[in-house]
Amino acid sequence: ASGSRVMNGQHPQKLVIAVLPGDGIGPEVTAAAVRTLQALGLEAEYTEHNIGWAQWCERGEPLPQATIDAVRAADATLLGAITSKTEREAQAELAPELQGRGLRYRSPIVRLRQQLDLYACLRPARTPPGIDTPHDDVDLLVVRENTEGLYAGVEAYLGEVGPQTQQLAAFDAHFGSRFAGRGEVAATVRIISALACERIARFAFEQAARRGETHVVLADKPNVMRATGAVFVDAARRVADDFANIELVIENVDATAMLIAQSPQRYGVIVADNLFGDILSDVAAGVTGGPGLAASANIGPDAAVFEPVHGSAPDIAGTGSANPIACLRAAAMLAEQLQQPAIARAIDAGIDEVLSAGRVRTPDLGGNATTDQLTDAIIEAALAADPA
Ligand code: NAI
Ligand code: MG
Repeated sequence: ASGSRVMNGQHPQKLVIAVLPGDGIGPEVTAAAVRTLQALGLEAEYTEHNIGWAQWCERGEPLPQATIDAVRAADATLLGAITSKTEREAQAELAPELQGRGLRYRSPIVRLRQQLDLYACLRPARTPPGIDTPHDDVDLLVVRENTEGLYAGVEAYLGEVGPQTQQLAAFDAHFGSRFAGRGEVAATVRIISALACERIARFAFEQAARRGETHVVLADKPNVMRATGAVFVDAARRVADDFANIELVIENVDATAMLIAQSPQRYGVIVADNLFGDILSDVAAGVTGGPGLAASANIGPDAAVFEPVHGSAPDIAGTGSANPIACLRAAAMLAEQLQQPAIARAIDAGIDEVLSAGRVRTPDLGGNATTDQLTDAIIEAALAADPA
């Protein structure tokens, strides 16, 4: 750590930043982000904790309790990425001595969000400078509900129609008779509560107010998923009543996805459930420079976790060519959360400067720079941009 910027006693106790590198390119991009935060003088104790596929394979637990405790205790957490594979692969890759014990893999990121109640996922998408993207002037924010919906983990696993699934099959006589005795059936249930909808809608409206938006778009499928859709829409309407100057606009999520691809400038704040928010934010990332650039924040009452939107990218892991920018943007959001706006602005300015100049780029951006080279260039530009 250079420690070049002293924080003037703003934080009498040293900040603790938990770092969860994870799998694949996760450790590569979190190392780049920690190096950047340190170079810019974010003085903190950076502690590393285990999460991910390797933990599952070795110990049968991809999210150790110690990691959950560390994230809860930390002032903020930076997460790299983790690998998740199918249930069959999960069983096959489990250490031999752990097999046959009925252990089940569930995404540790989804569980972390649920256990720490990181209910609000913020995924900004802005047109980056210097990059050839299909649209200019995009500046939107997807606010994704992070704890329930189809990711709630209420699932009946693959099996014949039988004890696990017959209740669901019996729910509809048509399904029951169609599937019985004719192979596998599985179910994933979309859980939608008024409580979760209201607080995510409120979070979205507050973000919209901060950004000076005139409306919030709720993207869902209430005309088809009628029961759950109605709960979400009604909750959002109640919240909208408290914001006289911000209108609630209900859209069908498929139309929203198309319109983000076609004319994303029309959007400011979009609120959506867990799955739809995930998909819409990926579409938004796709029209604003791709997976190497998009970052997200997961915010709850007692903890905040910042991460790139991308996954562990096993296809490029270990080559040293991962784009660190998504994780650096996540680090900037983390600095903002820790009340270090100057550091956040410097990182963002450094990224913009290097993207505009266009000389140092990783392969996903059409260049041949390494993760470390791009990180070095951004740190240099960020230090030059930081007026402190
Ligand atoms: P992915 O985001 O890992 O990769 C998709 C494509 O984007 C790949 O071609 C990859 O090389 C590229 N890419 C991603 N990040 C990049 C970066 N920083 N620089 C340059 N190129 C980058 O998504 P995919 O392939 O669907 O999933 C791979 C693994 O990651 C899976 O095991 C999946 O479960 C996991 N995953 C984890 C997430 C997380 O940790 N939050 C999110 C999404 C997927
Ligand atoms: Mg995603």
